[in-house]
Amino acid sequence: MMQVSITTLTRRRNGSIGRKEDIKGCEVLRIGRGAENEIFLSDHRVPLHLAELHEGVDGLFIEANGTHDLRLNGAIIRKAHLNVGDVVGIGPYELVVTEPDDSIHIAVTLELVHPIGDDVESLLSRSKLTTTNIGLTKRASSWILGSLTLMLFLILPLFMADSPLSNYFSASKSNNAPNTMTNNNDIDFDISWVSGEVMNSHKFFANDCAACHTKAFVMVEDAACTACHQQQHGHIDKVKFPSEDLTSTRCATCHTDHQGPHPVRAEKQELCSDCHKDLDKKVDGMHLTNVSDFATNHPQFKPTVWQNPSEGIQKRISLDDNPVEVSNLKFPHKTHMNANRMRNPKTGTNTQLECASCHVPDLSGAYLEPVKMEEHCGDCHVLTFDSIAPKRTVSHGKPEVVYRELAEFYSTLALKGGVTDKTAPKVVRRRPGSPLLKEEEKKAALQWANLKTKKASRYLFSASQCGSCHEITPEKTNASGYSVKPVKVTQIWQPKSVFDHGKHKDVACAECHAADSSMKSSDVLLPKIEGCQTCHGGEQATDKIPSTCISCHGFHRDDVAIMTGSTGKTVQ
Ligand code: HEC
Ligand code: HEC
Ligand code: HEC
Ligand code: HEC
Ligand code: HEC
Ligand code: HEC
Ligand code: HEC
Ligand code: HEC
Ligand code: HEC
Ligand code: HEC
Repeated sequence: MMQVSITTLTRRRNGSIGRKEDIKGCEVLRIGRGAENEIFLSDHRVPLHLAELHEGVDGLFIEANGTHDLRLNGAIIRKAHLNVGDVVGIGPYELVVTEPDDSIHIAVTLELVHPIGDDVESLLSRSKLTTTNIGLTKRASSWILGSLTLMLFLILPLFMADSPLSNYFSASKSNNAPNTMTNNNDIDFDISWVSGEVMNSHKFFANDCAACHTKAFVMVEDAACTACHQQQHGHIDKVKFPSEDLTSTRCATCHTDHQGPHPVRAEKQELCSDCHKDLDKKVDGMHLTNVSDFATNHPQFKPTVWQNPSEGIQKRISLDDNPVEVSNLKFPHKTHMNANRMRNPKTGTNTQLECASCHVPDLSGAYLEPVKMEEHCGDCHVLTFDSIAPKRTVSHGKPEVVYRELAEFYSTLALKGGVTDKTAPKVVRRRPGSPLLKEEEKKAALQWANLKTKKASRYLFSASQCGSCHEITPEKTNASGYSVKPVKVTQIWQPKSVFDHGKHKDVACAECHAADSSMKSSDVLLPKIEGCQTCHGGEQATDKIPSTCISCHGFHRDDVAIMTGSTGKTVQ
């Protein structure tokens, strides 16, 4: 955020100069005729988005947008470094870079050096033509011009096909959906009404005014929007919260169109905080805390934490109340970050694990992919079960599947023969491949296989193998005699907001997660709100990132019913 001082100079008729200083905080200083520019120049000779001023490592820098040109000290340029004293010509204006005061990064003065009047006056002085010369009084000529304007820009458009009023009046069209996506007008008289650029997604029908302005002289109704946006979900449940107070915000309050390419131009936090600052007064027994600003009045985060995975119980617990998670998966982060203890049994060497050895960003880069046993643990935690087959492993999966694999392994072995284990009966130690002739021999072999399966599974399901990571309980109904408690590793901890790891990739993991000192998976290793507030401020912040509600929250919730705006009625 840089502080910019913009001094507007106005030359009075008597020659004296008026000065008006304006201090603004911004990342870049935009110049143009559009209202969103920090240097907003209303003269129609200035393009909407002319140029941008940045403060770079090597000083001040100006760059023209698109195909526009600038004049720097008289020469035509597209981009250039600026120094104190430089004069930039912007259409009829002159911008002069001046020495900034302390605490100000950039200081400029701005003056309209070629007022439009100059040009008109010099034209007029060269012309002998006046209204009286051609036989019209001032009054008559203004009446004629006035009616012409009305005719061209109001009456004509109203009666052109597809315009708001023709829809409104013509009975034959009234049962048509107003939102025709095509525009049949050969001449777009409606264009004369345009009040600004519509959002990118709407450009393809931007000239079909009637798609949104279904009724002339009436604010845009929600029904016009929901005619196309039939699947748009709401914010709150209208049945649970029937109050007018809560359900009467129009789409156009937040989605004011004609404001440039972005979908929500009205980013102002009042859109949310006007309602959220005293929700407890609006709704009896409100379960959400009041919120009005991220820096000054926002509750501590309450991640959604597993309490009892077997019964599907989760609970929102404030990070101030030291939440404890029950995921049924054991995992000491600290041990694994210590290279001295991380001996890989296959290679015999010690490994320094990184966070990224297990936590890989998902496709969007916002969240992290789930950790998988085979991929992230399997190299070291090998699921072996018997020293007579030291390389043999079971697959990682349901206990009954693991048990079946063991049973198949031992019965195949017993029937084949050639086992070297001295405690095994003779039949299984016989020369491998020689056929088993007698029924009793076959029986004895399989009995051995059965015993071995039981023994191996006792070992596997013990604290040495599956039980080192899992909660294992005896379970008679399972073929293996065991069951593994369901594992729930949370993927989205704070579902009421969005977070984006990609936008924080230059911040060390440890700044936000105290993982390398955690010995138990029940620790919830998430940062508290205070951790975010070191960088993110409220809407008005100048020394931190100004973050409004929609930086971190959406509005439309998939778990809430669809906003079916019936005609004329407002929806939530
Ligand atoms: C995608 C929908 C959409 C289309 C298409 C559209 N408008 Fe709008 N227009 C809006 C919305 C939303 C507003 C905000 C007014 C409100 O709160 O009801 C608005 C406001 C206006 C205003 C009031 C001034 C202002 O900026 O608030 C004028 C004038 C206007 N539109 C003219 C037009 C004309 C002319 C066309 C056709 C060339 C057009 N609009 C096409 C959605 C649309
Ligand atoms: C003629 C059909 C039509 C009408 C009428 C219409 N929209 Fe859209 N709108 C679309 C289409 C198509 C898209 C782009 C695809 C999408 O996001 O669903 C879109 C996109 C959007 C987006 C998302 C833009 C983005 O870039 O993510 C918003 C917000 C939106 N519309 C709001 C409104 C509002 C508010 C109104 C009423 C003033 C409205 N729309 C009227 C067709 C329409
Ligand atoms: C209180 C403000 C508010 C109101 C009222 C509102 N929206 Fe939105 N809308 C938002 C916000 C915030 C987003 C998310 C924008 C973002 O993430 O950039 C959004 C996103 C959208 C999108 C983009 C797709 C999506 O789901 O993210 C569409 C389409 C949309 N709104 C249509 C509508 C329509 C139609 C209405 C009226 C029926 C409406 N909105 C009412 C604030 C609002
Ligand atoms: C007119 C009142 C109103 C407005 C405007 C409003 N909200 Fe809400 N919001 C509510 C109510 C009521 C609830 C509780 C809904 C529920 O529990 O189903 C809620 C719930 C929420 C929640 C919790 C969602 C959840 O999953 O439980 C968040 C976050 C939120 N709003 C953010 C916003 C943001 C961001 C905006 C502005 C874009 C906004 N709200 C605008 C009334 C409003
Ligand atoms: C050997 C694999 C492995 C490594 C290396 C690892 N993690 Fe994890 N991490 C896990 C597993 C498994 C879980 C889920 C179990 C749990 O909650 O502890 C997890 C969970 C997490 C969570 C979720 C929140 C929570 O409380 O459970 C965070 C945050 C996290 N790890 C951060 C880190 C950071 C930061 C590092 C680097 C210092 C790191 N992890 C290194 C395997 C790993
Ligand atoms: C680089 C090899 C390696 C990787 C990868 C690895 N571990 Fe370990 N793990 C070990 C070693 C070695 C020990 C024993 C450390 C000690 O006690 O000194 C261990 C110990 C454990 C323990 C403690 C066992 C006990 O009885 O105290 C658990 C639980 C555990 N690991 C789970 C996991 C999980 C879950 C993963 C995958 C997300 C994983 N480990 C990935 C090597 C690894
Ligand atoms: C080194 C730790 C580790 C060991 C040893 C281990 N698992 Fe797992 N297990 C995990 C992790 C991590 C998950 C969750 C991620 C996944 O599915 O890969 C998991 C998931 C499971 C699941 C799915 C649970 C659910 O609710 O979705 C079952 C079943 C399971 N393991 C069974 C076993 C059995 C049986 C063994 C022993 C043969 C075993 N595991 C050994 C770490 C381990
Ligand atoms: C920097 C990010 C950020 C900003 C900015 C932000 N929030 Fe939040 N907000 C969060 C997070 C994270 C949570 C916790 C989400 C959860 O518990 O699932 C949350 C929780 C909430 C909740 C739930 C409160 C409760 O009772 O637990 C509401 C309501 C809410 N925010 C509204 C707002 C409003 C309104 C604004 C704007 C004034 C805002 N937030 C600004 C990140 C943010
Ligand atoms: C600026 C703070 C911040 C930084 C830096 C950060 N995280 Fe996170 N991390 C979070 C927050 C907040 C969540 C909770 C998001 C949610 O699930 O709602 C989270 C969630 C996680 C989770 C749980 C799974 C998930 O995607 O939600 C893991 C694992 C994790 N982080 C690992 C890491 C690793 C590894 C790094 C370093 C590369 C890292 N984080 C850097 C704030 C941070
Ligand atoms: C070290 C500083 C720092 C910390 C700490 C930090 N952030 Fe950020 N955050 C940033 C920066 C820088 C951006 C990028 C801003 C941008 O792109 O406009 C950002 C972007 C975001 C965004 C995306 C906003 C958007 O408009 O796209 C969200 C959401 C967010 N942070 C939430 C959080 C939350 C929640 C925390 C605390 C858990 C947090 N941040 C902690 C620096 C930080």
